[in-house]
Amino acid sequence: MSTPSGTGPVGPAKVRIRHLHDAKDRGRPFSMLTAYDQYSAQAFEAAGIDVLLIGDSVGTTVLGHSSTTATTHQDMLTFTGAVARSVHRPLIVADLAFGTYETGPADAVRHGVELIRAGAEMVKLEGGRAIVPQIRALVEAGIPVMGHLGFTPQSVNALSGHRVQGRDAAGADQLAEDALAIQEAGASAIVLELVPAQVAARITEVVTVPTIGIGAGPSCDGQVLVWQDMAGLSGFHGKFVKAFADLRRDLTHAAEQYRVEVAERSYPGPEHSFD
Ligand code: KIV
Repeated sequence: MSTPSGTGPVGPAKVRIRHLHDAKDRGRPFSMLTAYDQYSAQAFEAAGIDVLLIGDSVGTTVLGHSSTTATTHQDMLTFTGAVARSVHRPLIVADLAFGTYETGPADAVRHGVELIRAGAEMVKLEGGRAIVPQIRALVEAGIPVMGHLGFTPQSVNALSGHRVQGRDAAGADQLAEDALAIQEAGASAIVLELVPAQVAARITEVVTVPTIGIGAGPSCDGQVLVWQDMAGLSGFHGKFVKAFADLRRDLTHAAEQYRVEVAERSYPGPEHSFD
């Protein structure tokens, strides 16, 4: 997935699940970002990002909701289509929205099929042993699955808020058992969110499928961030986030400059006007 020095994208013209497995086997970390729209997705493709996740975080980062539990299946179809139509190389993963799979394997497959029709190449769902039947059914239907363990945002109420999971020995053991169970059910990759670095390292060691960390330390096989956090647009400064740009500042400056030039009639100038 990356150059021999491990710093740049090379390789496949189209990223497939097997490339993530190769990357794990070779010890070469890969990158995943959320994406929800055409221009950001194209920028991430140009940057060599390997996997684009149309996360249900679209509800909180784009649609103004306070929880991903408000994101609907229709939202996921709309934004998955936008991203999938806009890029070629990255692997496209889409979230199954809250309420679309907990009710059983048949619902999981029905909604998974619709995400694949919208352009997803893999679907992600949150949970461990409790959703093994759903994972099995999706895989049997030919739909690749990415699991999601640790802090699972759709369960924010049950988990009493955004909290690191698996801090004690019993919690860490449960996470490892869940990871093995969903791998056995057919999950081809597993996101680990808000998990102590040593626990994520242990899980990464015991599973054969790639792990993808968010707030899970450096030992995971890949990393994922919400793009607006990564680019400094959201203003969210959680401990696990590094802002690689300050888009909020740059965008505010650009809009301010535009407002000023409109007010003083220096924009549009003759070069922007038709004879
Ligand atoms: O929806 C999302 O953005 C996610 C990431 C946090 C992994 O699930």
